[in-house]
Amino acid sequence: MELGVLKEPETESRVSLLPQEVQRLLKQGWNVWVEHDAGVRSAIPDQQYGEAGAQVADRTTVLQKSTVLLAIHPLADTDHLRSEHVLIGVYNPWSQREWIAQLQERNVTVFSLDLIPRISRAQTMDVLSSMSTLAGYKAVLLAASHFPKIFPMMMTAAGTIRPATVFVLGAGVAGLQAIATARRLGAQVQAFDVRPEVKEEVESLGASFIDIHELTAQSVGGYAAEQSEEFHRKEQEILADYLRKADVIITTALTVGRKAPVLLPKSLVEQLQPGTVIVDLAAAAGGNCELSVPDQVVTHQHVTIFAPTNLPATIPHTASQMYGRNIANFLKLLWQDGSLNLNFEDPIIRDTCVLHQGNIISPIVQGIVQQTAG
Ligand code: NAI
Repeated sequence: MELGVLKEPETESRVSLLPQEVQRLLKQGWNVWVEHDAGVRSAIPDQQYGEAGAQVADRTTVLQKSTVLLAIHPLADTDHLRSEHVLIGVYNPWSQREWIAQLQERNVTVFSLDLIPRISRAQTMDVLSSMSTLAGYKAVLLAASHFPKIFPMMMTAAGTIRPATVFVLGAGVAGLQAIATARRLGAQVQAFDVRPEVKEEVESLGASFIDIHELTAQSVGGYAAEQSEEFHRKEQEILADYLRKADVIITTALTVGRKAPVLLPKSLVEQLQPGTVIVDLAAAAGGNCELSVPDQVVTHQHVTIFAPTNLPATIPHTASQMYGRNIANFLKLLWQDGSLNLNFEDPIIRDTCVLHQGNIISPIVQGIVQQTAG
C-alpha cells in the first residue's frame, strides 16, 4: 500500500512521520513516499528518509503515487485529490466547514484525529493528548523564561529567594504536564479544575488542588460538560483571590468543540501582581483570558500575556516523533490484511472518519453540519 507524507504549510514545523516510523511501516508492508523537504523544519533532511527506505519526491509525484496521504493541516491543493485518496491529519472540523465540503464533492475519504474518542484503546493514537502534553511542558518554559524572578527556592549567601507560585487553571492533559514541569523547576503549584476527580492526580504531582464544591461539572466522554455563563462568573469571583497571589498563570480550560470560557477578565488582569506572566493555552478556542490575542504577546499594566496556538510546533522533532507514532498506531487499525478497515461499528474508526464516499460519518461532524444548516 502506498503512503505519502506531505510537506506542511510554512507556518508548521512538524511533519507527520519521522524516519524511525517509516522503517516500522515498511516492515508492515507499506511503501512510503515523502515530499522533498517535508522534515526539514523538524531537523530531518531528505537523506534520512531515503536511508530509512522512503522514496523522496516532489509533491505532484507523492500525490499521484500515494493512496493514503498524511498531512497534519488541511491542504490548499484539493484539486489534486481523488476519490481513492484517504487523508489523515488534524483538521478541526468545527472551523473547516468549507474545506470539508470541497473534499466531500471530490469523494475523498478523510480522517481527523482530533475526533478520536477518549477511550483506553484509542490512547496510543490520541494525537491531541500527545500534543497537549508538549504544550503544557512548553507553556511553563515560556513563562519561566519571561518571568522576572526564578522558579525555585534558593538559600544563598546573598539571601533566601522565595519560590514562584504557579497557578494552573484546568488540569487536563496540558494542565497536568504544566504542573509536573513547574514542580520540576521548583515552583509552588496550585491547580483548579471543574472535574473534582483530577484532585488525586494533581496532588500526586506535588501541587495543591483548590477544592470548590460549588464549581463542579460532570464529565462527558473524558471531557468536562459545558457550563453556563453564571457558572463562569461565579468561578471568576472565587478564583480571583488565588489568581491575585500567583506569579505565573497557565490556563487550559476548555470544553471540546466550544468557545473557551473567559475566566481571566481584563478587570482581574489589572489586579494581578506586576510581573505576572499568563500563558493562555486555550487561545485557539478564543482564550481563557479576555486580553489574549492569538500568537501575540500582550503587555497590560505590567502583566505579560502569551497566547500561543501551536506550541508543539516549537518543539518540532519531539512533536513529530509523538505524532508519527500515534499515526502509525492508527494506520495499524485502519489497514488490515491489505485493505482499508472501514468498520464503522468501531468507535475509533466511526468517530474519526469525517468523510467516506461523499458521506459524513463522524456523529460529531454530522452534528456540526446540522447545527450550521439549522
Ligand atoms: P482537556 O480537555 O484534556 O483539558 C481541559 C481541562 O479544562 C479539562 O480537565 C476540563 O475539565 C477543564 N475545564 C473545562 N472547563 C473548565 C473551567 N471552567 N474551569 C476549570 N477547568 C475547566 O484538554 P487538554 O488536552 O489538556 O488541552 C487544554 C487546552 O490546551 C485546550 O484548549 C487545547 O486546545 C489547548 N492546547 C493548546 C496547544 C497550544 O499550542 N496552544 C496545544 C495543545 C492543546
